[in-house]
Amino acid sequence: MQIIHTIAQLRQIVASHKRAGKIIGFVPTMGNLHQGHLLLVEMALSQSDIVICSIFVNPLQFGEGEDFEHYPRTLQADADKLQQVGCDIVFAPAVEEIYPDSQGNGQDQSQVIVPGISDILEGAARPGHFTGVATVVAKLFNMVQPDKAVFGAKDYQQLQVIKRFVRELCFPVEILTHPIVRESNGLAMSSRNGYLSDTQKQQTGAIHQMLKDVSRQIKAGANNFEQLEQQAVESLNAQGFVTDYISIRAADLSPAMLTHKHLVVLAAAYLGTTRLLDNIQITL
Ligand code: PAF
Repeated sequence: MQIIHTIAQLRQIVASHKRAGKIIGFVPTMGNLHQGHLLLVEMALSQSDIVICSIFVNPLQFGEGEDFEHYPRTLQADADKLQQVGCDIVFAPAVEEIYPDSQGNGQDQSQVIVPGISDILEGAARPGHFTGVATVVAKLFNMVQPDKAVFGAKDYQQLQVIKRFVRELCFPVEILTHPIVRESNGLAMSSRNGYLSDTQKQQTGAIHQMLKDVSRQIKAGANNFEQLEQQAVESLNAQGFVTDYISIRAADLSPAMLTHKHLVVLAAAYLGTTRLLDNIQITL
């Protein structure tokens, strides 16, 4: 497995694989890899010839007062895990490589804005976050030139933002989705779960439980979505969470209507200072 840090070297290696007719699979990450990330890499491996995984903690997608400085940087451990699953190339650039000449971590340079969807739910709680995500993913796509890229379904809104700009800006990349990978108590795997204490970890199963309850009720015919959301918020708050939102939406995140056949229930809740995200998709 090669570990490279510069765009120039990456372009050279990618060009030689492309000349040989290889299909390039790509898994963008911010590192601190867990089992969920490794399953994304395995999915990429199963559908392409060469798999590139990027590890880059992107300053542009962190708001003021968020955990950019403290986000765990564990390159050696990540590289070991990637090697074990058979990843071919790790691209781990420095901030200056991705945002050269920037005086402000990319904010003073060209950005990819996906209107509407970037301002609701997570975007309302974290202004600028999805512009930061879309910008770095677009830049990475231009560097890696992948045929396919794999993202986890846990960050459902992020996935919709990426699918939108890929379609609207005509990126020739197929977006593949891996289902949410969960701990045995139902907690969706996330690098930020490392911020939770052992006691908190035991409480976290309640979110998935709540999502399953809401899904069951909708499948059984409940159609007062506002009431279902309100009850779910109350239930989580009663179990020690501070819930930001529980939202029942259409698959494209527009408001849910009774005629929709595909719905998604999205949840964001704090346990202590850790913000936990989860969702469940429903087909009626
Ligand atoms: O999901 C993540 O880890 C990040 O948002 C991503 C897609 C790697 C962009 O920095």
